[in-house]
Amino acid sequence: MDPLRGTLLWASGNATLRRHLPRFRAVRKTVERFMPGETADDGLAAAERLAIDGLPATFTLLGENVDDLSQATTAAGEYLKLLDRIDALGMDAEVSVKLTQLGFDLEPDATMVHMERLADRSAEMGRTVWIDMESSTYVEGTIELYATLLTRSPNTGLCMQAYLHRTWDDVQKLAPLDPTIRLVKGAYREPKDVAFQDKRVIDESYFRLATHLATSARRLTLGTHDTDLVARIEAAVPGGRDAFEVAMLYGIRSDEQRRMARDGYAVRTLIAYGPYWYPWFMRRIAEKPVANTLLALRNVF
Ligand code: FDA
Repeated sequence: MDPLRGTLLWASGNATLRRHLPRFRAVRKTVERFMPGETADDGLAAAERLAIDGLPATFTLLGENVDDLSQATTAAGEYLKLLDRIDALGMDAEVSVKLTQLGFDLEPDATMVHMERLADRSAEMGRTVWIDMESSTYVEGTIELYATLLTRSPNTGLCMQAYLHRTWDDVQKLAPLDPTIRLVKGAYREPKDVAFQDKRVIDESYFRLATHLATSARRLTLGTHDTDLVARIEAAVPGGRDAFEVAMLYGIRSDEQRRMARDGYAVRTLIAYGPYWYPWFMRRIAEKPVANTLLALRNVF
């Protein structure tokens, strides 16, 4: 792994930096590139602007690893309120949540109850609710929870990471349940025995998984900004671009998002918002370490 990327991913999990860095104006200014603001109003306003360009949204309220169950209940409540607002606005939008934000470290049964409520509310609206994939220690539990949830709530989707050695087998295990999958490369700092480290190997794993899922999953979303890879997948799968949709993050390759929507791809923008942005933001910086660190440094001056 690139040493700068490794350092940034280490910093994303460091408690002291998490307490201090968000206070710096330059850091806060750099965050603006990746999120429209800290409130649901900011997220919804951004989604209304994107909708004009034919880009529906997926919302994430930032937060992870809560250390008290009341925070999990609050987060689930915020998501339910957001779904009500999406419904009232008639907006084409979904939500994507992290299990550790819903108390998965503390009481997995309580997390399941929150997920069921979110799935039920989303089903009433005819939408999918997504589960993000977190670091590798959570993968086994997340897949188990998803498999159980999927049998009662078919309108649920799971993010899977192409950099993990295990993902091909996990995909085979989930296949009989007709899953909905968002495929990403993977954003965490993982050891060699767990995840591929070389970008070319990760890209090949992504291609192999995507071409397989395009004909086996109920719905496939390519969560990537790698438009060359999307073009390769499109050329390789029966049905071409109609076999998948593409999802990208707010503020990243925005011109490409608009261009693809204009060209007839189904494209969705994932909008993250909320006050607890530090670890998520550092993972974004680490994805393009040199350019994004330079951007942060420019904001210092
Ligand atoms: P790659 O890193 O090869 O980037 C392709 C090009 O996109 C780069 O050359 C650059 O131009 C641009 N780019 C990518 N990231 C950038 C950045 N941060 N800043 C500036 N430019 C950038 N991960 C995870 O582990 N669990 C999850 O649940 C999710 N969920 C998720 C949802 C959606 C909709 C997306 C798009 C991504 C995720 N991810 C994720 C993150 C994912 O794992 C991955 O880290 C990033 O998408 C970056 O990888 P790319 O596939 O974009 O390719």
